[in-house]
Amino acid sequence: MGIEQVLPFTEKLHPSVKKLFEERQKSLANPEEYWDEKARALIWFKYWDRVLDDSNPPFYRWFVGGVTNITVNTLDRWVKTEVRNRVAYYWEGEPGDRRVLSYQDLYREVNKFAKVLRGLGVGPGDRVVIYMPMIPELPVAMLAAARIGAIHSVVFSGFSPNALADRIVDAKPKILVTADGYYRRGKIINLKSKADKGLEIAEKMGVKVGKVVVVERGGVSVDYDFVEGRDLYYSELVSKTPDNTYVEPEPRRSEDILFILYTSGTTGKPKGIMHSVGGYMVWVYWSFKWTWDPRPDDVMWTMADIGWITGHTYIVYGPLLHGITSVMYEGAPDYPEPDRPWEIVERYRVTIFYTSPTAVRLLRRYGEEWVKKHDLSSLRLIGSVGEPINPDVWKWYHDVVGGGKTPVIDTWWQTETGAAMIAPAPGIALVPLKPGSATYPLPGVDADVVDEEGRPVKPGVKGYLVIKKPWPGMLLGIWGDPERYVKTYWEKYSRPDEGVWVYYPADYAIRDEDGYLWLLGRADEVLNVAGHRVSTAEIEHAIVAHPAVAEAAVIGVPDPVKGEVPLAVVVLREGYEPSRELEQEIRSYVSEVYTPIAAPSRVLFVRKLPKTRSGKIMRRLIRAVVTGATLGDVSTLEDEASVDEIVSAWAEFGRELGDAA
Ligand code: WTA
Repeated sequence: MGIEQVLPFTEKLHPSVKKLFEERQKSLANPEEYWDEKARALIWFKYWDRVLDDSNPPFYRWFVGGVTNITVNTLDRWVKTEVRNRVAYYWEGEPGDRRVLSYQDLYREVNKFAKVLRGLGVGPGDRVVIYMPMIPELPVAMLAAARIGAIHSVVFSGFSPNALADRIVDAKPKILVTADGYYRRGKIINLKSKADKGLEIAEKMGVKVGKVVVVERGGVSVDYDFVEGRDLYYSELVSKTPDNTYVEPEPRRSEDILFILYTSGTTGKPKGIMHSVGGYMVWVYWSFKWTWDPRPDDVMWTMADIGWITGHTYIVYGPLLHGITSVMYEGAPDYPEPDRPWEIVERYRVTIFYTSPTAVRLLRRYGEEWVKKHDLSSLRLIGSVGEPINPDVWKWYHDVVGGGKTPVIDTWWQTETGAAMIAPAPGIALVPLKPGSATYPLPGVDADVVDEEGRPVKPGVKGYLVIKKPWPGMLLGIWGDPERYVKTYWEKYSRPDEGVWVYYPADYAIRDEDGYLWLLGRADEVLNVAGHRVSTAEIEHAIVAHPAVAEAAVIGVPDPVKGEVPLAVVVLREGYEPSRELEQEIRSYVSEVYTPIAAPSRVLFVRKLPKTRSGKIMRRLIRAVVTGATLGDVSTLEDEASVDEIVSAWAEFGRELGDAA
């Protein structure tokens, strides 16, 4: 299939779009040839025999026969050049303490800790679970594991002991690397005690972890049990290891597992997404290059936690594969004041800033005075990821943070895809941007928008995003659950009898007349109102466009006449008070800017939405409160008080109904 099917080359085509299309055309016309050439930008111990092994779909394997180690490409490569003196990480703790690590420093730390891990009996293929806050030893531990061929599985430090236990039980690690504690919103979090609790729960579930390495965060003092024979101090182990330690990088097969990262699915059990050594490396390298157009003097700040895929790819592997500098920040974005991010951008002269729409909305809510206090002129690109970015939020980001001249790089991708898949590509040619659209698929990405039956939909018609060709950064599968892998991602649109395999990300999308893609959010959040399908994300977009509204979450609630009606939970911007008038106004507003069908039957006002720690709204919990169902797994919930608020707002509504009757 040619790219013409995706978008015709016309006379009118913008020169940048044309350039991007030509590159993409090349990649899709002959993927094996294309990636054979591209993969040579990286260092391999041995080149592959086959670019893509597709003999057992959907278990695709990239660069089969190839042997490498990602730490050679992220570290050894640079310490052989003048890049050794470049800053790898500017680290800043929440209280304001700072550390600076050059590439040489990072290389030394990784080698030393790799030696330590090996000494503790960790070998190729063993799992190392890392439960750590945002401190430099976190990337050190990941890279040290990778260097000796072990598989790292980072568990977000905000996760509860139960969530940690689930992941330990699933991954069965030889070792756990954790820390004593860290700062969050001015408080010290006792991480070691949470780790101990998690280990205890895991042991009851039959999985005992032999060794626990404890990094001391420095400055935090917390009480915890030190288990003799099991627990070891990172500082002691590392200080016993000479500074000139060199650990031979373990030769890894391209299709070996580099890491496991858990993500939530539609069921309660988290999915252990596996990424490969070679395919992930090649894809991250190129996707990063196209998306950020890295330059030697770049300072990138990805305001995410390394416990999520965004941190894996855009704080650790991506920047290091390109030898650029990153900022790593420990704490909350609005602590101690809402201008913390802008202060950091100014201090380190950040050139690439990458965050989530949730963070942008949060910071917008505080008002632009906080942004204006700082000189953000170093910014060259500002990125967005994780959720659809509302056009008005996009504009605020562009105008206020980006000073009206910095391109907003809206990147669509998932834990499963490894790195950005749909994004403006300044590294090839920056296409004209449209607020709220992630623009075009990158080279190698055969994206389409299809209907329920898998037929491509017309421009402007909402459908499901699909990816019709394997790409190097695709997940290897789900750890220990190949069936779930096939079922979750491939069953909906593949036709195995005809040899057709289609990846289903479960996202809604629209392609407009110009071929731009608009990602509308998860396809598992669809509402059916009086026979009309409406997307919760779209209603939310509409509500958030109202000047009084900071954030909104919409769910469907049962309705005797219409089947289902939307209910909105809304956080107001500073200076607005909840009222019946405002509720009515929001309702009419949605009717106006979207459709009357989508107007929420009720608006509940709260101060905070229930969210996961990565910032995703947990609509499931709102639904549970409203329908009186059990809350289920709340291990990823950031703040339990947010659920209590909905409970009382809902009870208040019930009382009003009673009064009216
Ligand atoms: C959503 C985060 C709209 C989407 C990297 C996807 C987005 C899910 C965007 C993956 C975007 C991510 N526009 N929606 N630019 N980026 N999403 O695994 O629904 O935490 O399926 O990976 O986030 O979330 P995950």
